[in-house]
Amino acid sequence: MQLPRLVDAALDRLVVPGYSRLGYAARRAGWNTLRAGSLEGRTVLVTGASGGLGAATARGLVALGARVELVVRDRARGEQARAALHAEHPGATVDVAECDVSSLADVRRYAAEVRDREAAVHGLVHNAGVMPPERTETAEGHELALATHVLGPFLLTRELRPVLRAGASPTSPSRVVFVSSGGMYTASLPTDDPEFRSGTYSGGAAYARTKRMQVVLAELLADDLASDGIVVHSMHPGWADTPGVASSMPGFHRVTGPLLRTDAQGADTAVWLQAAPEAGHSTGVFWHDRAPRPTHYLPRGAETPQARAALWTLCVDATGEDA
Ligand SMILES: NC(=O)c1ccc[n+]([C@@H]2O[C@H](COP(=O)([O-])OP(=O)(O)OC[C@H]3O[C@@H](n4cnc5c(N)ncnc54)[C@H](OP(=O)(O)O)[C@@H]3O)[C@@H](O)[C@H]2O)c1
Repeated sequence: MQLPRLVDAALDRLVVPGYSRLGYAARRAGWNTLRAGSLEGRTVLVTGASGGLGAATARGLVALGARVELVVRDRARGEQARAALHAEHPGATVDVAECDVSSLADVRRYAAEVRDREAAVHGLVHNAGVMPPERTETAEGHELALATHVLGPFLLTRELRPVLRAGASPTSPSRVVFVSSGGMYTASLPTDDPEFRSGTYSGGAAYARTKRMQVVLAELLADDLASDGIVVHSMHPGWADTPGVASSMPGFHRVTGPLLRTDAQGADTAVWLQAAPEAGHSTGVFWHDRAPRPTHYLPRGAETPQARAALWTLCVDATGEDA
């Protein structure tokens, strides 16, 4: 039975019940099962798929028949993830490709390689994520969370545009999904210092603001790519038990342990956004547990058109892509 909308929204606003496994359990009772084989013939690339939610997303996609490429920065860990997937789904088509999404040069190289070898790509999940303990710059001089969550994914999406366009059909758009975080509710779009050069750096703050940027970027890319038959969504997984949560937030992991979702529960909405027909009928929407969610709880928190334009300019200037 589907949860009444008000109850569902209340779970969301109270955070702990909504983000934990309790919210997942309450909501899933109203969900339709995704059709087995619904992703047959579709190729989906998942970044950061060597473990945690990325590996769980790949598992969910493979179970629906997709061919999945695990996009990883460490080949050995990628091969381990592939072996684990094959153990569970022996007939699955799973490839491993190396790409450090925080490196614009590596993203450009990887995207060119995909364009050369693939006639079409049907889905892309921007899952790779970090919470840097201290301010770190990439070789190209970008703050690491910004590079990993925003600049790399922007460039990868733009550079894969031709193959994503080729994968789209009038009845079935190609789908790009950003795995953001509920932590983004605590941050507004940074306007004057996106690289976090001034003030006291905190990995948590850098994480939250770049997760906010992902949500706005998904909306901007949704407009940008609409004429190519590509839809772009963002989502947040709630709180799931992954190696990243255990290592980056040990205190939180200890306290919330029994309430944390499994990796599959955290990955569920990302998988659903690739597979569900209804997710192909909209674009630029923020989701959690298979339902659209507000991007701000208070209207006055909404970003200005100028701040949104500044984010776009930041991405374009950093990557050299066309505006
Ligand atoms: N778990 C949660 O409760 C939660 C909540 C909200 C949002 N999220 C989001 O969900 C996503 C996955 O999180 P998780 O909890 O599964 O974290 P995780 O266990 O730390 O996994 C992160 C993955 O990203 C990869 N990665 C990091 N930087 C990369 C880069 N530059 N290039 C390529 N891959 C890179 C890691 O690869 P290595 O194996 O090489 O390190 C790893 O596979 C993140 O975007 C996170 O912000 C998670």
